[in-house]
Amino acid sequence: MTSLVLTLSETLRYRGAIGQWSWVLHRISGLGVVLFLTLHVIDTSWAVFYPELYVDAIAAYQSPIFTLGEFGLVACVIYHALNGLRIAIFDARPKLWKHQARAAVIVLAATAIILIPTFLIMFAHVLNFYNEGRPVMNIVDAVVKQAPFAAGIAVAIIAAVLLSAVSSVIIPARKSQGRGSTVERFWWSFMRVSGLLIVPLVFGHLAMIHLIQGVFDITLAGHTVVGTTLANETGTAVEFVANRWGMLVGGVAVWKLYDFALLALVVIHGFNGLRYVLTDYTSGSRFAKSAAIYLCVIGAVVLLTLGGLALLNTIDSSAIELAQEATRALHGG
Ligand code: HEM
Ligand code: HEM
Repeated sequence: MTSLVLTLSETLRYRGAIGQWSWVLHRISGLGVVLFLTLHVIDTSWAVFYPELYVDAIAAYQSPIFTLGEFGLVACVIYHALNGLRIAIFDARPKLWKHQARAAVIVLAATAIILIPTFLIMFAHVLNFYNEGRPVMNIVDAVVKQAPFAAGIAVAIIAAVLLSAVSSVIIPARKSQGRGSTVERFWWSFMRVSGLLIVPLVFGHLAMIHLIQGVFDITLAGHTVVGTTLANETGTAVEFVANRWGMLVGGVAVWKLYDFALLALVVIHGFNGLRYVLTDYTSGSRFAKSAAIYLCVIGAVVLLTLGGLALLNTIDSSAIELAQEATRALHGG
């Protein structure tokens, strides 16, 4: 905790110029995406396990507060991806180091250049939605519906602290391996390779669900679902996912396969990144540091299991009927 306060105050005081600010932005954008991912993988699994809850989750995504968050999320993903590529390129080519400052400015400029048309297209989707006068969940309901996630995160923190307490009794204190160890060298390479692989996957996902079809089109009846030949007849969020995951090309469920790869890479990359951040601020206490590591392991295992199980299941017509009822109840029909 003291090291976190120290980092915050030193970040504001220290005049480390652009390199320091790009480090801060990379960290904040990575953490923002990890938080979103945690909610997102859990609620996507509801399309399979609790169709009624998935209807609510997508209605919350379409509310004004989440629309603001969606613009922030897209900005975070684009900045983090471009800056991550900069880090990977400079790590591989130390000769380029003298150009670090210029490269950091190029990353900021490229982020702005990509964001301007992206935001304009997203904004056009928002305007269409409000012009059509479709029902909107109010902000208080959208926020209250996130309470179970906050409770889940609190439970994960308690479990991590308990595991740390138990392991400190059972496992004798070892000399810290530090970032130079073989394991840490593996993670260093993994972060760079996974980052490269994530770029096309996450940009493709966002292009499909923000640009080609917006978040609001997920519940548009009679609309052909992006990346499929199937129409969303009922206009329910659950049928949208069912059509995407049911789309077969040569007998292969292509979007399931795509989501498997995206899930594995972003969860492992994101939670290992979270471990870097949390262990930076807990390095003074063996107990807090091991609790931080347990928390990251718990988070990754829960998301990989839930997301993986959802992808292995099939969304049948009874789930779509439940979603239709829930949609009618939500909009008072
Ligand atoms: C507001 C922004 C987003 C929306 C509305 C959205 C929407 C969706 C939808 C409808 C699905 C269901 C299946 C599909 O269509 O492929 C899905 C799955 C998925 N999305 Fe997103 N997505 C968003 C942003 C992201 C981001 C930024 C990431 C990565 C960091 C991501 C990672 C995933 C993963 C891993 C799955 C598969 C989940 C599972 O296995 O259960 N999504 N998303
Ligand atoms: C889109 C492509 C991405 C690229 C190219 C990328 C690249 C990188 C790189 C190179 C690092 C530095 C690793 C190190 O210090 O050894 C990093 C850190 C990190 N990444 Fe990513 N990443 C991407 C996507 C994501 C996503 C989707 C998430 C969230 C789910 C995420 C979360 C993080 C976090 C939390 C860190 C730690 C930041 C820190 O130590 O300050 N990244 N990323």
